[in-house]
Amino acid sequence: MNYFIGIDIGTTGAKAVLMDVNGVVVSTANNEYPMFNPYPLWTEQNPDDWWKATCRSIQNVVAQSKINSSDVKGIGLTGQMHGLVTLGKDGKILYPCIMWNDQRTGAECKEITEKIGFNNLLSITGNQVLPGFTAPKIIWLRKNKPKVYSKINKVLLPKDYIRFRLTNEFFSDVSDASGTLLLNIKERKWSQEILSKLEIPIEWLPGVVESISQTGSITKQVSDLTGLIEGTPVFAGGGDQAAGGIGAGVVKEGIVSIVLGTSGVVFTHSDNYRIEPEGKLHAFCHSVPNKWHLMGVTLSAAGSFRWFRDTFAQQEKLEAEKTGKDVYDLLSSQAETAQSGSEGLFFLPYLTGERTPHPDPNAKGAFIGLNVRHTKAHLTRSVLEGVAYSLRDCYELISNLGIKAESIIVSGGGAKSKLWRSIVADVFNAEINKLTCTEGAPYGAAILAAVGSGNYKNVNEACEKMLKVDSRIEPDKKRVEVYDDFYSLYKQLYPQLKNSFQNISEIVNKHYGS
Ligand code: XUL
Repeated sequence: MNYFIGIDIGTTGAKAVLMDVNGVVVSTANNEYPMFNPYPLWTEQNPDDWWKATCRSIQNVVAQSKINSSDVKGIGLTGQMHGLVTLGKDGKILYPCIMWNDQRTGAECKEITEKIGFNNLLSITGNQVLPGFTAPKIIWLRKNKPKVYSKINKVLLPKDYIRFRLTNEFFSDVSDASGTLLLNIKERKWSQEILSKLEIPIEWLPGVVESISQTGSITKQVSDLTGLIEGTPVFAGGGDQAAGGIGAGVVKEGIVSIVLGTSGVVFTHSDNYRIEPEGKLHAFCHSVPNKWHLMGVTLSAAGSFRWFRDTFAQQEKLEAEKTGKDVYDLLSSQAETAQSGSEGLFFLPYLTGERTPHPDPNAKGAFIGLNVRHTKAHLTRSVLEGVAYSLRDCYELISNLGIKAESIIVSGGGAKSKLWRSIVADVFNAEINKLTCTEGAPYGAAILAAVGSGNYKNVNEACEKMLKVDSRIEPDKKRVEVYDDFYSLYKQLYPQLKNSFQNISEIVNKHYGS
């Protein structure tokens, strides 16, 4: 039988998923690496850590599966988008990766918008410039690290750095390249106009291809390191959102996916190139050849839940160690004891600033509405609800463009929580489906490799054959009403706090800044 490996250079670890040609997952492995926050708003990783973790994850999935590596017919890559990896002439890393959730480039975003013009930028790139995107990070390096900048020979996205290590080739795919703000989204190629206005040499950029294209193969050196066979094809793959969309079957209009990952995403397929008139949604090329996708991003979704766990769940951690239960399950069971709407307690999930619908690096997290009746159960529940409200904000923008959800697929680590899925069903007033395979992006990357290698006619055919619904949650009429009321209140909170968030940032920068 033919097998495929999808590799995801995620925010917390390098995950590999090995599946057979029918889409059955045979083994998975995840090896973690650290993220560094040297200053407020900065997030960095060491690309070499990704590489070491990737090699271990490849070794792990192949060993666990007990298959012969010569049966691996393709590798698909995916990963965190927008990160800036800079390489010198010798292929060595010049500076830590400035990650997707880094917010240091507020000034550069302004500069880019002024240089190119908001509407022009929106019509070429499908997006307004946001601090997490790659282009402002390049300008930041030029201004703040001129020595590093002067040595740049290549700029790569995270998964494309791993591709370089696997194959010695420089390539990206259209979906991930969309998040650089340097791609002409309609024409699916680097934008000469943007590059020349920003004075970024096109030679620094990798070749850009559709997601199912082959982009080289495993080198002899990597074969020795990982046990993969030299010459195993490596396919372009996609940014984690587009690949996750494939893994969730969002390959035609009417299907909407909600990802409860570190960041939360509402993602939809678009047959045509269309943009949100104010640029509030991301309009990117899809990993389905010659199609597009629209998405809204809540920067801290499961990331909010993780922060809550790490900060407040010491007791549950001890209990989990004793009983072998999962800390998140323990927290979810507690949260279930609080009523829908958390008795008026709101959580704003803007722990790392926000993107959709409030593109604001200074937005902050908040608990609002506390009273003495509130317990940890309410706090936990309000975190899950706050994220769901924020995702509904994203969905409303999508439905305003005339794209209606006939089916909503939920995935990502947070989708394991039945409570969270049911909160999403009630907040969206929609049926929520979970697929049998919830591996998301790395699974999508493996599907792209299966299509690229000719095992399927196209992405749609592969998804139809491989993906199956596992569970379905219907909304509850009563709870829908409760959440409708609380959601309309939730929408008022950010606008009222916006200026205070800005002021907090200014004072924090003054006293603790770089
Ligand atoms: C997408 C985005 C995140 C990162 C990390 O625009 O920023 O999804 O790719 O997952």
